[in-house]
Amino acid sequence: MFSPGDRILVAVSGGKDSLALWDILLELGYDVDGLFVNLGIGDYSSDSGHFAWKFAEARGLKLRTIDLRSEFNFDIPAGSRAARRAPCSVCGLSKRHLFDDAALRGNYNALATGHNLDDEAAVLLGNVLRWEHEYLGRQRPVLQAGGGFPKKVKPLVRLAERETAAYCVLRGIEYMLEECPLAEGNRHLAYKEALNGIEDRSPGVKHSFYFGFQDRSLPLFTNDGGPTTKPISCERCGASGNGQVCAFCRLLERTGGNLPSPPASVNIRGTKSVANGHGGNRHG
Ligand code: AMP
Ligand code: FES
Ligand code: ZN
Repeated sequence: MFSPGDRILVAVSGGKDSLALWDILLELGYDVDGLFVNLGIGDYSSDSGHFAWKFAEARGLKLRTIDLRSEFNFDIPAGSRAARRAPCSVCGLSKRHLFDDAALRGNYNALATGHNLDDEAAVLLGNVLRWEHEYLGRQRPVLQAGGGFPKKVKPLVRLAERETAAYCVLRGIEYMLEECPLAEGNRHLAYKEALNGIEDRSPGVKHSFYFGFQDRSLPLFTNDGGPTTKPISCERCGASGNGQVCAFCRLLERTGGNLPSPPASVNIRGTKSVANGHGGNRHG
């Protein structure tokens, strides 16, 4: 997943998984900065930020913060209304864009997120239920850098939610307990609940579902090295994507938000034509 000496940017939500991940990577001796995105979801966002800041301050760590409202003039509830899309979809596309951009601009070797086994198994279930071929091909714990995207890693995919919670308790890490109020009733949570019900009756099934897919079926959905849609640089912000204007800039058009600044250097983004395998992988 990483090489010695890598500079890592870990996306921290203030929840148990990402704070545990930050702690673990530091314990392993990596040079790790944090990134928190204030999504503007009322108290939920401000309280989440509080936990992320508290962790960073107590250890003298660098926490980069992006505030959607002050920097881009919209927040997730307003973005969802303007785009007529579910909040989680607007949130997901904004986070993906901002995480990639921060990792590239900061010249980090990798972007790490705290997705755990419960998250990834639920995403896999959603993608299998609809046979989302393209998304399935991207569902792996490590996506190499390429096509203007940074390397992305999910180091906690072997751990269940309860394990990262236990880790935080043992390490004395305080974290945000509340779940996002806008996620209530979404498909992703329903898939998680369904898998938990099956897991109760067949312990270990979540693990074999996800890792069986990684070991045996993923190659059926990937075209590593093969031709794929060539990523296009967004004409507004320079980010890699599938259209002339990236999904984030299109969202900003609809919200009347501020356009992001163009890339600092063309070198960081690169323009290699590779099977990038980045972008969204969630069907939730
Ligand atoms: P979620 O999409 O909420 O399940 O979160 C998955 C991962 O994305 C977390 O473990 C974090 O690494 C990252 N993440 C989620 N929300 C934020 C946020 N507001 N700021 C920074 N990272 C986040
Ligand atoms: Fe993204 Fe709730 S955290 S919509
Ligand atoms: Zn753009």
